Amino acid sequence: MTRPDLSTSPVPGAAFGTPVLEVDDLHVEFRTRSGVVNAVNGISYSLAEGETLAVLGESGSGKSVSAQAIMGILDSPPAVITGGGIYFQGEDLLKQSPEEQRKVRGPGISMIFQDALSSLNPVYSVGYQIGEMFRAHRGMSKRDAKKHAIELMDRVRIPAAASRVDDYPHQFSGGMRQRVMIAMAIALDPRVLIADEPTTALDVTVQAQVMDLLKDLQRDTGMGLVLITHDLGVVNEVADNVAVMYAGRIVERGTVDDVFGNPAHPYTDGLMSSVPQVEAKGGRLQPIVGQPPNLAAIPSGCPFHPRCSRRRLGAAAAPGRECATDVPPLRLVAPGREAACHYSEEVLGV
Ligand SMILES: Nc1ncnc2c1ncn2[C@@H]1O[C@H](COP(=O)(O)OP(=O)(O)O)[C@@H](O)[C@H]1O
Ligand code: SF4
Ligand SMILES: [Mg+2]
Repeated sequence: MTRPDLSTSPVPGAAFGTPVLEVDDLHVEFRTRSGVVNAVNGISYSLAEGETLAVLGESGSGKSVSAQAIMGILDSPPAVITGGGIYFQGEDLLKQSPEEQRKVRGPGISMIFQDALSSLNPVYSVGYQIGEMFRAHRGMSKRDAKKHAIELMDRVRIPAAASRVDDYPHQFSGGMRQRVMIAMAIALDPRVLIADEPTTALDVTVQAQVMDLLKDLQRDTGMGLVLITHDLGVVNEVADNVAVMYAGRIVERGTVDDVFGNPAHPYTDGLMSSVPQVEAKGGRLQPIVGQPPNLAAIPSGCPFHPRCSRRRLGAAAAPGRECATDVPPLRLVAPGREAACHYSEEVLGV
């Protein structure tokens, strides 16, 4: 099958304009006593202001590690960034001094952590902890910081903020504690917010409220949002674009409508068929066969090949496209869409 000429087609995310954050061929490994874990293997994406990019993938696919690399908070050792660039407003953070980086991370890019609910300090009031952002970064007095903390608690819709500012974390529900974490993350008006599984620990109703809040805050501030999740429903509801990760790589990228409407990578296709479709009456849950790969021993060729029902091995493969030996590069497979599969055109049916 011949591949269409896409040399003048738009790349994913182009519709959103100038990127504020660009990740370029980022590699992260963990050098452990039992060997090297290849957690992030050359991921690239860009994010513009006002854009919501979902990073979707099973547990252990490198989503959090890539976010920690962007924030400069990897545990090093054992983590080592072995290649690539992380650009904020055109400047490569990896080439900056620690002092310069501190000016970007926090004020420019901030993050809500996966274990946010346990990362509040139990011995300080929530108001004190939110106010710390203003005291530490803006040199505000205790009094002004508290006033700003109350305003922020209002913005993240914590009821009766003024009377709750001196309460301690254990006096708040999980959903309200998550709002406190969001307040801290947006305190300095970042241009990029990375939210790592921000609703996983919450029940469904509260999840929806927290996602609504994040979207509203994004609309008000124009910040770009990187939403890390394994939940296709959340992606469908709130994201503009999606990057699907597998084994520390991005295997598909495009608009949510395009990617979910007609996946170009068999892994995305597998994820889509593993959730029950609301419309498909009697639709059966079909989990993808096999296990996610161990990142200390990633399969050769296409990392997905041991689990792929479309794989072509040996003589059945096209030249240079043997699934167990030839690594499929992430490439433009349709306008605005990239995928890392030798046979994406067939998957797409183009
Ligand atoms: N401190 C560490 N030491 C060794 N390996 C690690 C460490 N932290 C993470 N990893 C490896 O990195 C991989 C990716 O982890 P992570 O980014 O947290 O996945 P997820 O996609 O679930 O967020 C994991 O499979 C794990 O093997
Ligand atoms: S390259 Fe081969 S093994 Fe990998 S996803 Fe495509 S068809 Fe499947
Ligand atoms: Mg994670």
